[in-house]
Amino acid sequence: MSPQQKALVLPKKQGNFEIGSRSIPSPGAGQLLVKIQSAALNPVDYKIKDIGFFVTDYPAVLGTDIAGIVEELGEGVDNFRKGDRVLDNSFPWVRPECIGSTSVYRLAHGDFTNDFAAFQQYTLTDARCTAKIPSSESFDSAATVPLGLDTALVGLYGNHFGAGLTPPWTKSAGGHESKKPIVILGGSSSVGSYTIQLARLSGFYPIITTASPSNEELVRKYGATHFFDRNLSGEELKAAISKITDSPIGIVYDAISLPETQSIGWELLANDGTLVLTLPASVKEDEGKGRKVIQTFAGPHAPQNEELCSSSWAVVEKWLSEGTIQPNKYEVLPNGLEGIIGGLERMKLGQVSGTKLVAHPQETQ
Ligand SMILES: NC(=O)c1ccc[n+]([C@@H]2O[C@H](COP(=O)([O-])OP(=O)(O)OC[C@H]3O[C@@H](n4cnc5c(N)ncnc54)[C@H](OP(=O)(O)O)[C@@H]3O)[C@@H](O)[C@H]2O)c1
Repeated sequence: MSPQQKALVLPKKQGNFEIGSRSIPSPGAGQLLVKIQSAALNPVDYKIKDIGFFVTDYPAVLGTDIAGIVEELGEGVDNFRKGDRVLDNSFPWVRPECIGSTSVYRLAHGDFTNDFAAFQQYTLTDARCTAKIPSSESFDSAATVPLGLDTALVGLYGNHFGAGLTPPWTKSAGGHESKKPIVILGGSSSVGSYTIQLARLSGFYPIITTASPSNEELVRKYGATHFFDRNLSGEELKAAISKITDSPIGIVYDAISLPETQSIGWELLANDGTLVLTLPASVKEDEGKGRKVIQTFAGPHAPQNEELCSSSWAVVEKWLSEGTIQPNKYEVLPNGLEGIIGGLERMKLGQVSGTKLVAHPQETQ
């Protein structure tokens, strides 16, 4: 029998998680086998369990954010060594290897999808979208970065799933959006926190955000220049923003994207502005020319994102080591993979604020 590992398995659509056993996969060409030290939780994980979307084959293993140690190198990988500490946004449901396709992205099918998931002890990663963890960061802090950062950067810089701005890491860029205002709804969320940090790199000013008052200091630490209580109405927020800037708001990034935040974002947006969403739109675009709505999609292996994500993943180690991008605050869950079950429940109930939950798969009993 091939070597086995423990995994948090969802046996059937909308079923209940259980600890199971799976084979440890072998890396193919261009891939790494990583021993996961830390896996971070994301809202998509409880949504898949509850709603049953994205995943088509069961039993399924979920989770996208990993930090761990390279155990084995696939053919052709020459930029990593066994023992390297790495982080990755595996986004297991949309893989470059899959054949089935939809109009926007290739959706992965079959058990091999599970080989790329985070909620287990070993995973495969694509070396092009894997970065080394600098010595200044722990596995836990590194695991808070991948999906949140990709969602922020595809939303801002993606030509297909984003506003198409010039990325600040390209030669001609840096401060490209100088002195333009941006509003980021939900600055204490993981996606919001990385959007604030990228907005700072792009040169936006002012960087206006909303969160609970208890997270004001946190969002300012990420780089927000102006903070407002998330409970203000659209009208109140608009009035408050008009006292800060008289420039039109050309970009609103709604990291939360509930119907109520979307209508606030829509109200704030200038006539030719873009509202970037993380969830499907509930606001309707203006007829003809006018305000645009874009739903972002952070799978780094979606063909529309591959070029952008491989260029950004090439600078992640540098960003982290220089402190250009700060990882999220985190809380470590008890009981290895089993702890993920309660963690996802807390996220669903809105009980996690300004914090990423992480689990240690190797501590599973
Ligand atoms: N499209 C994609 O590819 C993609 C990728 C990743 C995530 N997403 C989606 O993006 C959303 C955010 O994900 P995440 O991981 O960033 O979430 P998260 O970190 O779990 O979000 C928790 C935060 O949301 C904030 N929040 C909740 N309601 C708010 C409101 N009405 N106004 C302002 N802030 C509010 C809370 O702020 P306070 O505690 O300060 O109140 C809390 O800190 C989720 O729906 C997720 O499914 C989509």
